[in-house]
Amino acid sequence: MTTLVAVGAQWGDEGKGKLVDWLAPRAQYVVRFHGGNNAGHTLVVDGEQTVLHVVPAGVLNSSTVNLIGPGVVVDPGALLAELEALKQRGVLRDPSRVRLSGRAHVILSWHLALDMAREEAARDLAIGTTGRGIGPAYEDKVARRGIRVADLLDPAALRGAIDRLVKQKNFELVDYHQWQAVDADALYRQCVEWGRQLEPYVENTGHTLDRALREGKNVLFEGAQGTFLDIDHGTYPYVTSSNCVAGAVCAGAGIGPTRIDRVLGITKAYTTRVGGGPFPTEQTGVLGEKLREVGAEFGATTGRPRRCGWLDAVMLREAAMVNGFTGLAINKLDVLSGLDELRIATAYRVDGKLTHDFPMTLAEIERAEPIYESHPCWAEDITGCRQLEGLPEAARSYVKRVEALVGVPVEIISVGPGRDQTITCNDPFRSASE
Ligand code: GDP
Ligand code: IMO
Ligand code: MG
Repeated sequence: MTTLVAVGAQWGDEGKGKLVDWLAPRAQYVVRFHGGNNAGHTLVVDGEQTVLHVVPAGVLNSSTVNLIGPGVVVDPGALLAELEALKQRGVLRDPSRVRLSGRAHVILSWHLALDMAREEAARDLAIGTTGRGIGPAYEDKVARRGIRVADLLDPAALRGAIDRLVKQKNFELVDYHQWQAVDADALYRQCVEWGRQLEPYVENTGHTLDRALREGKNVLFEGAQGTFLDIDHGTYPYVTSSNCVAGAVCAGAGIGPTRIDRVLGITKAYTTRVGGGPFPTEQTGVLGEKLREVGAEFGATTGRPRRCGWLDAVMLREAAMVNGFTGLAINKLDVLSGLDELRIATAYRVDGKLTHDFPMTLAEIERAEPIYESHPCWAEDITGCRQLEGLPEAARSYVKRVEALVGVPVEIISVGPGRDQTITCNDPFRSASE
C-alpha cells in the first residue's frame, strides 16, 4: 500500500491534472479532498484534451475509482454536466467509478450570485475569483448553516434549510448589492432533481477509503489550486477559501496523518498566477507574453490570461516546508526552450534587507524584490525526450539547480501536455513500496 498526496507548489495550474492522470494506473483510488469547480485540470491523451473541474483526474484510467471527499464543495449542476460529458464520450461506462461524499457541501445559485456581486462591489480590491461560488459556499459550511449532498436526498430537510437561508441570502443580494433575488421554490425543485440524479453516486467515501487502505490499495490524493492559494499559508486575502496544502488531505478526505506515505510537490519550470495578488517574479513585458504564448497560459476554468514570470525558489522552499514534500515534479520544462537566458529567484530584498524566507505579510510580499541567478538555456526542442539523459546539458543542470535550491529530489519532469511526454527519475509509487 502506498498513499501519495500530489499538490501544487505555486498558485495553481502547475499541471496537477496531467500528472495525476499519468500516475493513476498505479493507484486504485484517486481522491479529491478540497476546493470545487474553481479547479480546471487538463489531461491530454492521444491528442484528445479533457478538462476536469470536480471529477478526479483518475477517471480516464478505466480501473481507477474516483472519490470526491467531504472537504470538496460541489456544484451539483456542474458535476452532473461533467459526468454526462464523460458518459457521452464513453469514458465513464461504469458510474460506480465516481463516488461522492454525502458530507460534501453544495454550491447553490446564491453562492454564485454572491461571489459575483461581491467581486463587482470590491472593484480595485477584487480577488479575481473564478466566480464559481467557492468562497460563499465555504463560508456557509464554517458558519454551520450549509447544505450538504446528503440533504439533497431528503426533501423535507432540504425544504426547511432553503427556507431558513433564503431570507438572509436575498437580503444581501437584493438590499445590499441590488442583485436579483433567488426564488426559493425554483431552487428547491432544482435541488430535489439534482438529489435524484446524484443519489447513485453518493456514499460515505471515508469508509470506502478506509477499506481501500486496509486492503493495501494504492491511493493518490489530487490537490487543487496550490500552496500560495491556501487560505492559511497563501498570499491572503488573494487566495481561495480552502486549505490546499498536503495536510488538508487528512480532514478533507478523512485519513489520519499516520497513513500518508509521500507528498509530491508539483511546480512549473517557471511561475504563473491567475487573478489578483502579489507575484514577486512576474514579468509583464515581452518575456511574460512569450511564456503565455508558448505555454498556452490561459485559465482552464475561466479562460483568463495567466500572469507569467520566472521560477521562484523562495516560494518553492516555503512550499516544501509547509507540505513536507518527499519529491518534486517539474512541469512545462519544454516551454523554456530557446530563451536567451533563464532566471531563478533565490532570495528577496524587502525594505533593503536580504531574506531567503517567504515573507509573512502581504505588504512585505508586495514589496519583495527578487534576487535572481542566471542560467544558460538550451535551444533544442525537448518535447520528444523521455529520459533524463536525453535532455540537453543545460536543461539537466537547470533541474539539478532547482533540486538543490529547494532541497527536494526531482522525481518527474514533464516536457509536454501529453500523457506520455513525461520523464520519470524516480516513480513515487514504486519508491515508496521498496
Ligand atoms: P492543473 O490545474 O494544475 O491541473 O493545470 P492546468 O491544466 O490548469 O494547466 C496546465 C496546462 O499546461 C494545461 O493546459 C496542460 O495541458 C499543460 N501542460 C501540462 N504539462 C505540460 C508540459 O510539460 N508542457 C506543456 N507545454 N504543457 C503542459
Ligand atoms: P487549479 O486546481 C489557478 C484563484 C482564482 C483567484 C483565487 C480565488 O486548476 O490549479 P476562487 O474562485 O477559488 O474563490 O478564487 O484563486 N484560483 C485558481 N488559480 N488554478 C486554480 O485551480 C484556481 N482556483 C482558484 O483565480 O485568484
Ligand atoms: Mg488549472
